[in-house]
Amino acid sequence: MTYAFSDRMASLQPSAIREILKNTSSPDVIPFAAGNPAPEAFPLKEIENITRIIMGDNPVAALQYSVSEGYPALRDAAFSFAEKREPGIRKPGDTILIVSGAQQGIELAAKCLINEGDTVLSEDPSFVGALNALRSYHPNLVGVPMEEDGMNLDALEKAMQTQPNVKLLYIIPNFQNPTGITTSLEKRKAIYELCKRYGVMILEDNPYGDLRFDGSYIPAIKTMDTEGLVIYVGSFSKIISPGLRVGYVIANSDFMAKMVVAKQCSDVHTNILAQMVCERFLISCNMNSHLLGLQKIYKSKAALLIKCLEEHTAGRLTWRAPQGGMFIWCTLPEGSDMVAFCKKAAEAKVAVVPGSAFLTDPSEPCRSFRMNYSTPSNKQIISGCEIMGGVLKDFLR
Ligand SMILES: Cc1ncc(COP(=O)(O)O)c(C=O)c1O
Repeated sequence: MTYAFSDRMASLQPSAIREILKNTSSPDVIPFAAGNPAPEAFPLKEIENITRIIMGDNPVAALQYSVSEGYPALRDAAFSFAEKREPGIRKPGDTILIVSGAQQGIELAAKCLINEGDTVLSEDPSFVGALNALRSYHPNLVGVPMEEDGMNLDALEKAMQTQPNVKLLYIIPNFQNPTGITTSLEKRKAIYELCKRYGVMILEDNPYGDLRFDGSYIPAIKTMDTEGLVIYVGSFSKIISPGLRVGYVIANSDFMAKMVVAKQCSDVHTNILAQMVCERFLISCNMNSHLLGLQKIYKSKAALLIKCLEEHTAGRLTWRAPQGGMFIWCTLPEGSDMVAFCKKAAEAKVAVVPGSAFLTDPSEPCRSFRMNYSTPSNKQIISGCEIMGGVLKDFLR
């Protein structure tokens, strides 16, 4: 049978990266390619207790259909949590929608906004899950090169001036996936002003904001929004559990009314038991000390990875130390074949993600790859870097 797939899906192919990573899920492979929260960061006991309480007190509500906007108590709790973490994020006329992970928030925003051929701007490189969600609506996807402190503003403005019907800018301002870059306050303000001037909406994706372990807090672009331009996407995946699949979107209620319809078509509502667990967690746990605990774990893992990279790859590989999040972006010397290196590393049972996977145009040249430090254990980080250092030495010889 030859299946006649829609144009939307026919153009989305499993990437070449999968080929490289396909044998890397076995336990003997060192998982620098993953993006999972650290196994030791899960609040297992708390979730177990909360789930038992919910199933004791309110089992039918936890298993019943619910409303698309989200479990009302979680909407309140998530709104207050977001407002505490990002003072000023809630603007008059804003509302909150509970979604099945930030990924769904991104996909629904794309569904509501993008017509075929509309221009969507994105940091380049960027999170491949979001790029693919955007791509499935057939936009003119235009990448804006990244600098140490966020997007190149000249390139951003030029794209706004020259590309047709620029509708949306997708941005991950904190500890970006994959580069680890944090957009400076000056750039956040300038990006907002440019979007305001050119009438471009902003999809601000902030799943890592609470995982800052260095430097100082920088306010979300949403906190600067006076026009209802920013759709802010938050997630409990990296701070409670990704398996619960609970995230949220904060945006103007006129925009959100359409998102709710889109969500109804997609999955009716987010898993209600998972929403109840998140709500109880937010209400009953000391979130400040929980987040401090996570930041401590990620700080020490990032420091260990950097120390080991210095020991085994210095002079051959370059990288920048992130101020939070889960990723380090490593770059090979001029003229290196990055994909060939990633293949060699995978053969030596060290998995990293080729950087081209994150480009808006994956056929563009790329000498970088992404390493994750949250998933591997300390032991794996140490041995993985040693193996990678050996592979790199041979590779560059
Ligand atoms: C930048 C970014 N946005 C969104 C997501 C998706 O998160 P969620 O699990 O909340 O869907 C990820 C997951 O890795 C991510 O890195």
